[in-house]
Amino acid sequence: MITSGGDAPGMNAAVRGVVRAALARGVEVVGFQHGYRGIISEDFVNLTTQSVGGIIHQGGTMLRTARSSQFRDYEGRKQAFEVLMSNEVEGLVVIGGDGSLTGAKTLSEEFDYPIMGLPGTIDNDIAGTDFSIGFDTAVNTAMEAIDKIRDTAYSHERVFVVEVMGRRNGFIALEVALSSGAEAVLIPEVPFSLLEICDNLKKARTRGKRSSIIVVAEGAGRASDVRDFVAKNTGFEARYIVLGHMQRGGSPTAFDRVLALRLGAYAANRLINGYSGEMIGVDGGKLVHNPISYVLSTERTIDPERLLLVDVMSS
Ligand code: F6P
Repeated sequence: MITSGGDAPGMNAAVRGVVRAALARGVEVVGFQHGYRGIISEDFVNLTTQSVGGIIHQGGTMLRTARSSQFRDYEGRKQAFEVLMSNEVEGLVVIGGDGSLTGAKTLSEEFDYPIMGLPGTIDNDIAGTDFSIGFDTAVNTAMEAIDKIRDTAYSHERVFVVEVMGRRNGFIALEVALSSGAEAVLIPEVPFSLLEICDNLKKARTRGKRSSIIVVAEGAGRASDVRDFVAKNTGFEARYIVLGHMQRGGSPTAFDRVLALRLGAYAANRLINGYSGEMIGVDGGKLVHNPISYVLSTERTIDPERLLLVDVMSS
């Protein structure tokens, strides 16, 4: 198995789930270090039940991760396949985001090699599952940061613009805005008017609301630009903060730990049972498997009910 792409809290729990489920079926597991790069360089460790003891609460990934440019070329994938064959590795579990899952699909198709994918990214932008591993923890991390920011915004009667991760999507931003009671959220999926937001801030101030939080998804713009615009068009004191990579670390929440264990164990069993080319997910709390080709060709969309809720809650 490998962990690949941007790391996500809960990846270690997923590793534990895969290893312990496989060992329970008498199947050995090796972990390649640094994602696909580790397969190409034949850098792996045997994973025993002891290897995955004491890691469930740790953020990051014990197998480390990377984004491998070499694996993007056929020659790199061929080298990886030969390493898998020469070490009698009969199948591969890949934990990562869409780029990592695309690599798994390509390897599987080019060499008719068994693979199983797990959604591991804080962005939660992967179809075929309600949640990706790491999303819940990232949202909680950002929410707790905003709870702190709200104190100083209140004290100084300021507007605070908070930029969160999400690459090209607004799933983190929307969940954080709802859970932190933000007055506005800017996401790439939905057009917005900064002038309109400024008008709403001014109306709120006439109603006595002396401080506000605006959550910005990094794919929708830069917090510093939004701050400048708000300060200029409202005359209010405004500051900004970019939460950045702190959203990628920290001890995974109970939700992410259990999600990761369940997905990992199910992936191991599906692979051992002879299935391949699937991504494991949850749908309404139930474990599901979908063809990776479907997952990668399907756009995950923003929940309109949550979008409406943000407006209603901040009106
Ligand atoms: O895909 C996860 C993610 O954290 C995105 O939200 C973010 O834009 C990107 O990774 C940052 O990548 P890097 O860690 O390479 O700077």
